[in-house]
Amino acid sequence: MRMWGGRFAEENDTRVADFTRSVEIDRNLALDDLAGSIAHVHGLARAGLISAVESAQLVAGLEGLAAEVAADTLTWDPGLEDVHLNLEVALGARIGPVAGKLHTGRSRNDQVATDLRLWTRRAIDRLDGGMLALEGALVGLAERDGQAILPGTTHIQPAQPVLFAHHLLAYVEMLERDRGRLVDARRRLNVSPLGSGALAGAGYPLDREATAAELGFQGVTANSLDATSDRDFVVETLAAVALAMVHLSRLAEEITWWSNPRFGYVRVADAFSTGSSMMPNKKNPDPAELVRGRSARVIGALAGMLALLKGLPLAYQRDLQDDKPAFFDAVAVLESSLGVMAGLIATIGIDHGRMREAAGEGHITATAVADALVRRGLPFRVAHHVVGALVAAAELGGIQLDALTDAAVHEALVETGDALAVSLAAEPAIGDLVRGAASIEGALASCDVIGGTAPGRVATALAAARRRLDAAGV
Ligand code: ARG
Repeated sequence: MRMWGGRFAEENDTRVADFTRSVEIDRNLALDDLAGSIAHVHGLARAGLISAVESAQLVAGLEGLAAEVAADTLTWDPGLEDVHLNLEVALGARIGPVAGKLHTGRSRNDQVATDLRLWTRRAIDRLDGGMLALEGALVGLAERDGQAILPGTTHIQPAQPVLFAHHLLAYVEMLERDRGRLVDARRRLNVSPLGSGALAGAGYPLDREATAAELGFQGVTANSLDATSDRDFVVETLAAVALAMVHLSRLAEEITWWSNPRFGYVRVADAFSTGSSMMPNKKNPDPAELVRGRSARVIGALAGMLALLKGLPLAYQRDLQDDKPAFFDAVAVLESSLGVMAGLIATIGIDHGRMREAAGEGHITATAVADALVRRGLPFRVAHHVVGALVAAAELGGIQLDALTDAAVHEALVETGDALAVSLAAEPAIGDLVRGAASIEGALASCDVIGGTAPGRVATALAAARRRLDAAGV
């Protein structure tokens, strides 16, 4: 029999066969396809469309194929377009003509939509595990080295001191949102298209809900046209995957800077670095760079998927076959990136001294000094002006704010002409107040709000993160 049946008088041109073939890619769906087929066979039997004996033969054959796929012993025939035809023909080769009953009431359109939802569901579960593992590494590092003090930056300029743990926990927050987005996408995609047929619904009284339940779906799709042509779940998953890659890319970017000897905040373990083929001195953070680089590919996958869908009329169009390569790739990229980043973070060395030294530059406690003056009654704008003058004086003298003289403090206050500032200047302890507020520890402690970097707040946040991981079994 010719591949496309009785209507065709000749085989496809080889160029067409090559052009339309997708088995190299969609064979990744094989186990999901077989699970869907087994559920469909049960449905056919329930509807009285096949006998109990035929059902048992078909299921045994399909289970045998699943074992072959799992053992990677099944030979894929490039002459058969896709995973679905390959498996159907392979089934026929093993169990004979009864295999011809499998495709009753089913189209590859509802079949592939089912397979891809099953695949995506599994992918999301794996990604969730990968994200939790990376969170575990970040929380572990925060527990180990989180007391280090980092010069927090805005505009890449020194801004305010933050606890290193606080910085790491920021990424845990991002990952938690990433997990939430994937869980949300999973919940929405978890309905069965099986029984939608090619576009109009199967022409047999199939109990779609029973088949759906067998496959672990929460329900069935409500419209056969939508079900066979909907790839929103791919877009949603890709969006979550792309955003997660963007988060990893930001972390990777920080690691590339921090490991530069000019910074020297961290030492990436040899196992997570690479050398140069020419420069013997080099130790490069290539894994982190590739995470950053590959995020581009994943962002492209999302844009490509949206573009693929935008011009498609209902229902299934062959364009949809091309939903898979970039999607599968994007998931694989995120999965491997999560793994490599978890390993890198778990083994990274932290130089507390270098971080602390850097935190001593850039007058990063200036805001804390201004806040201390505000607590003594100055309007914030006046305090901001005074401390700006103090920073200028410190720059000129090549010193830090905590080394300013009483005279310098006095002058900056008086110079404002503000009555409150002038009276503050007269207080004998005002120099000590400014110098005390300029300490790094004082600056950290002052950010004592929920979500702030005060050590007590960070300890609470870290404990909460640890409890969450414990509950998730990480
Ligand atoms: N391999 C196709 C895909 O992945 C499914 C087959 C549907 N093809 C068709 N001509 N109706 O989209």
